Amino acid sequence: MTPIRVGVLASGRGSNLQAIIDAIETKTLDAAIAVVVSNRQDAVALERAQQQGIPGIFLDPKSVAEELEPRKAYDQKILEVLKAHDVQLVLLAGYMKIVTSVLIEAYQGRMLNIHPSLLPSFPGLGAQKQALHAGVKVSGCTVHFVTEGVDEGPIILQAAVSVNEDDTVDSLADRILDQEHRLFPRAIQLFAEGRLCVEDRKTKILETAP
Ligand code: GRF
Repeated sequence: MTPIRVGVLASGRGSNLQAIIDAIETKTLDAAIAVVVSNRQDAVALERAQQQGIPGIFLDPKSVAEELEPRKAYDQKILEVLKAHDVQLVLLAGYMKIVTSVLIEAYQGRMLNIHPSLLPSFPGLGAQKQALHAGVKVSGCTVHFVTEGVDEGPIILQAAVSVNEDDTVDSLADRILDQEHRLFPRAIQLFAEGRLCVEDRKTKILETAP
């Protein structure tokens, strides 16, 4: 079977992108990264892409600042890049911009996000800080489908991480990140195998593809 073509949107260091690259290399993930797009020119994710010979494209959000709806105009540009690279599945891997209906509708049911908490707890920014502040004993990470509400779409996989009494935001974030690197490639593989089925906002994982 031809590997699914994924497009990755990333804003920062790109460790989740690297985990996906590694999973493809070790053949635990049957996918091909068609393109990496970033809203930040200095994103390490772009360097990681280039090192692998994957097209890494910086799209400047300022280039659409004059438009009536700049966020939508920006997503239209991203959409053109994704289409030009025949992207079948979009992955938000540390993408620090809210995606608009332009991308969400074009890739309905074909866009995944990874978030560093056990959703629906602690959506949005600073999820690890929110978890520490709330005093929870367990946090973790979630891979979910992207819908219009921020961090709200149907949950695909979650992994739990114990919160220690002496944890700092950084120490907790590091342990959660280890789980993210395991979880995201697994969720992508399930999608690639056609084993995810959403009914009534709940994701069923099928034993085999239909
Ligand atoms: C991760 O914690 C991810 O869950 C969140 O942003 C962080 C990105 O890390 N959405 P990286 O850029 O993949 O290293």
